[in-house]
Amino acid sequence: LPVDPFDLVIFGGTGDLALRKLLPGLLRRYAMGQFGDDSRIIGVAREQQSSEAYREKVGEALLRAIGDNHELKDKLPAFLQRLGYHALDANKDDGWEAFAEEIKSHGDRIRVFYLSTSPSLFVNLCSRLKAHDLNGGKSRVVIEKPIGHDSASAAVINDAVGSAFAESQTFRIDHYLGKETVQNLLALRFGNILFEPLWNSDHIDHVQITVAETVGLEKRAAYYDTSGALRDMVQNHLLQLLCMVAMEPPAALQADAVRDEKLKVLRSLRPITEDEVSQLTVRGQYRAGASSGNAVPGYLDELGRNDSRTETFVALKAEVDNWRWAGVPFYLRTGKRLPERVSEIVIAFRQIPHSIFEHDAGPVMGNKLVLRLQPDEGVKLWIMIKEPGPGGLRLQHVPLDMSFAEAFGVHQPEAYERLLMDVVRGNPTLFMRRDEVEAAWKWIDPILNAWEKLREMPKTYTAGSWGPSAAVALVERDGRTWHEDT
Ligand code: BG6
Repeated sequence: LPVDPFDLVIFGGTGDLALRKLLPGLLRRYAMGQFGDDSRIIGVAREQQSSEAYREKVGEALLRAIGDNHELKDKLPAFLQRLGYHALDANKDDGWEAFAEEIKSHGDRIRVFYLSTSPSLFVNLCSRLKAHDLNGGKSRVVIEKPIGHDSASAAVINDAVGSAFAESQTFRIDHYLGKETVQNLLALRFGNILFEPLWNSDHIDHVQITVAETVGLEKRAAYYDTSGALRDMVQNHLLQLLCMVAMEPPAALQADAVRDEKLKVLRSLRPITEDEVSQLTVRGQYRAGASSGNAVPGYLDELGRNDSRTETFVALKAEVDNWRWAGVPFYLRTGKRLPERVSEIVIAFRQIPHSIFEHDAGPVMGNKLVLRLQPDEGVKLWIMIKEPGPGGLRLQHVPLDMSFAEAFGVHQPEAYERLLMDVVRGNPTLFMRRDEVEAAWKWIDPILNAWEKLREMPKTYTAGSWGPSAAVALVERDGRTWHEDT
């Protein structure tokens, strides 16, 4: 659906996120006809350059991003004409007046300020937007993680943004919520009578959430080494996925109804205490190994230091202390330099109460519902069937398999595409409210503090493996195993 004309300002307009995700996403939406020629995208960064030079740079980056997609290539020149540039420094006055005048000259229309910069600039950027009277009317601000590195620093950021923009104008992006399969979880749970009656501790044995990556540090050492996997992935993406699985049915698919339910889940997470942290969490750091057949260095070598205790892998066991989920563990794991890039949610159902089959029919395995977020998005429901053939009755565990690419054969919009258009439309359903971010930190803080106290080195794992053996032990101790798609 077309959106109203807008101005989208990207602070950090020459940065990696802008060039790799935001601008390619906008190009795709433009090519789909979702916004017209009267909308404007304005890149902002410190370096002095003309709009012309910026367009050229963005054009090159977009050509790399779109490969040989001819449709996008055809639309590229017209898209680039929508693009302008302003050199601004969050800490200096120069240029702000002219910038504000230009934005205001477009009249009272939707303005989106995307702060794709270091959070240390948020305070100054917001106060300047306010000082130039750009924060009223249909203005919106988008902020990216990391929203702080603990509860206290998150509050500072939220206060700074809050002093210029109302909560209803503030869009905190968690791009995992924009992924197609995550939204599909809502359709699956609440659009079918089949699942919801079973969606509780009577029928579900446990839940697994895995977000595995093959990449290492990339070029983000400065950020990543101060963050680690718990802050970088679990505090936001994995906990948001957990919320989507565990929340109660909202009364309607309306932003606050959904966010209220997610908040309740976050507040129901059982705190992991100092005494339990070694038992319930595993920290790992990759050492040299192989990734996609190539030898890769270990984390410390990549970093060029040998004293970093930053974890590149986390596995943990969480519990949602409420009526629906009592006694159902949620096993979460995420890491860099794992054997494959795969994100999936596994709902493992309980065993049947009584088996009527002979011993030689083979074991009756529990049903599993597997939602694959990436790469090949799809849904699999593992069920027991009779092995085909004339022999006796032998059982087999097979998936009912729905692949999005095969079923629909269309381009699945990338998370950022979808979310950017939601901001323009003013729909915050898939964004995190302040209280959600705070509740997530409140659960994460004690884990971080306990780790800090222990001062242990993370357990090492070979790059290209599934993490330290302690992560396997974490689930095996409970008589379970990590799901393998076979
Ligand atoms: C980001 C993290 O939020 O998500 C990165 O900072 C991570 O470390 C990325 O690589 C993963 O996103 P995706 O969409 O590629 O799974």
